[in-house]
Parts: sequence; C-alpha cells; structure tokens
Amino acid sequence: MEERKGFGSTFGFLMAAVGSAVGLGNIWGFPNKMGANGGFTFLIIYLILAALCGFVVMVGELALGRKTGRGVVSAYQVLSKKFKWLGWLGIIAPFLILSFYCALGGYCIKYVVLNVGNIFGAGFGNNGLASGEVFGNMLTNQLESVVYGLIFVLLTLIIVMGGVSSGIEKFCSIGMPCLFFMLVIVIIRACTLPGAVDGLKYMFVPGWAVEHGVIEKAPSIITVLSNAGGQMFFSLSLGMGIMITYGSYLDKKQNIEKNALVIVICDTLIALMAGLAVMPARFALDPEGSLGGPSLLFVTMQNVFHNMPLGSLFGILFYLLVVFAAISSSISLLEVIVAHFCDKAREKGKGDKRKAYSLIAAAAVG
Ligand code: PFF
Repeated sequence: MEERKGFGSTFGFLMAAVGSAVGLGNIWGFPNKMGANGGFTFLIIYLILAALCGFVVMVGELALGRKTGRGVVSAYQVLSKKFKWLGWLGIIAPFLILSFYCALGGYCIKYVVLNVGNIFGAGFGNNGLASGEVFGNMLTNQLESVVYGLIFVLLTLIIVMGGVSSGIEKFCSIGMPCLFFMLVIVIIRACTLPGAVDGLKYMFVPGWAVEHGVIEKAPSIITVLSNAGGQMFFSLSLGMGIMITYGSYLDKKQNIEKNALVIVICDTLIALMAGLAVMPARFALDPEGSLGGPSLLFVTMQNVFHNMPLGSLFGILFYLLVVFAAISSSISLLEVIVAHFCDKAREKGKGDKRKAYSLIAAAAVG
C-alpha cells in the first residue's frame, strides 16, 4: 500500500492547525461578540470554556486522529462500527461550511482587487460609490460573486492538491507569519486614530456598550455562555473532523497536549488582535457602521479605509490578511473530505488519487 504522507515538521503542523482555527470567525465573529456580550466578562468566560472544553476536545480529536492514522470516517469506525455515521457528519459539515466560506473568501479577493484599483484611480473613492453600494451591487451581481468565489475555490484546490506537506504545510508556514505581521501593521494604524479608544472600551470594558447605547440591553448570562461556547467551538475548528484529520498526519513522537495548547493560545491571541484592528478603526472612522456579520467586513471596514489617509494601502493589507485567514481555514475543510477518499483509494491499492479527489470535491463545492 502506498505510504500515507504527513506533515514534515512540528512548526508546519502547528501553522496548518492554527491556520484552520484562525479564520473569518476570528475577524468578524470574535470582536463583535465580545463587545456585545459584556467585554472583559465575555473574554474570561471564553477563556475558561476554551481551557475546560476547547483544549480537552482538541487533545481528544488530535489523539483520535493520531491513534487511528485515518481520516474522520474511518477514525470513528475504528472506535466502533456504530459510530461510522458520526464520521460522515464530519464530512458533511465541512462541505457546508466550505460553501459559505468560498462565497465570503471570494468577496475578500474582490476587495483586495478594488483597493488595488483604487490606488490606480479606479474604484471606491474616485467614482463616488459608497462601500454599502459596492457591497449591495456585489450581492446582486451574481456572475461576479460566482467568478470571485470560483477563484477562491481554485486557490484552495491548488493548495490541497499539492499534498499535506508540500501544499498545506508550505502555504500555512509562510501565510500565517505573514498574516501576523500584516495584522500588527493594521493594529498600529487603527489604534493610533483619534477616537480609537472607544473601540477598545467597547471590546474590553464590561457594560460600556449598554451605557453608551451601542446595544440596547445587557444579554443574560445564558446568552453570554451560549455565544462564548458557540464562538469557541467554531473558532477552534472543533467537532468537524479537522483536528482528527490533521492529527492523523502526526507522528507518534509529537506531544499532543503541548500542540493543542499552542493552537488554543494562538487562535485566541489572533482573535483579540483582530479586535484591536477592527473595533478601534470602526469607532474612530465609521461610528454608525455595522458591528458584526459580513457588513462589518465589507461595508464598515471599507468605509474606514475610505476615510483614512493612505486607506487603499491599508485596505489591501487588511483584505489580503483576511484572504490568508480564509484560505488557511478552507484548505483544512477541503482536506477533511479529500483525506477520507484518499484513504479509501489507498486501502484498495489504487494509490492515493489525491489530485482526482481534490478536483471532484472542489467541483462539488463550486
Ligand atoms: N475556525 C474557523 C474560523 O474561526 O473562521 C472556521 C472553521 C474552520 C470552522 C474549519 C470549522 C472548521 F472545521
């Protein structure tokens, strides 16, 4: 049987796993949820849940993957034949998430292109289009959305086709440090804007959002708990077979607890950093703008860059880092699906057929 190739180094594995965890959820989910759910109180609850549930489930998923050395369906099947259907849920859920990820990832690519265009005199500021209008047009212009979505799927496909170590690991080992540095630059710019301090208060000071009328009333503790819990599982890419699949590529010498801890810490750190990039800028330059969901990314943030000196340059940096975050998550989602079928083909002695299965899965998503 053909050998199952895994990650080449611990750093590469960590970057791939952190890459999966760091995604759109960190950038438009976390900062707003934190602000609307009691700021610092939310953060403490999130951290407790991440330590008590997230870390434990992460260790469990990585261990299950490493122990079985199989993709998600076979990993559950090894535990018991009765659990095989659970593994299939781990194929269906990533497939569904991937579809919406590709649509949003495509929009991010378009915003990079628009900001590049703006530097050369064609785009937002110069033709007088407000970013809300650009976003609205984009939603109604289905052909354009499909084309950008397909470009995103194609990029995801090329990386997954390259294999675990020469595709996923290579992309994430370069992409994640780049994302980090781009984020630091955007944070410095955002936090030095006049009025930025309100964004920090919104995120960190308990009760500030209610006192200043940003939200109507404080959510109940049950709402805070469920928001923090949901955000934590989504942000850490848990329960979708991702960490089982990535764990299956680890060798026996790896310290799973240490790796899981690094993933949880990095993901939370990047979520907080994303908040420091987004919220201060929003409160400083677009105080009426949306605080969450896609319109935070595609309307509010573009307004922010429009109102900022050298805004297009920061716009390119920001949307590029969002594209990196989105691609590193979408490749993990596609890999879960591809890994399962490659394992099956390998067991039947047909080689791993990675290229063919990547193509079929990506075409189905497209
Ligand atoms: N963790 C990613 C984010 O925060 O955006 C999203 C995600 C990726 C969720 C992979 C689930 C998953 F399996």
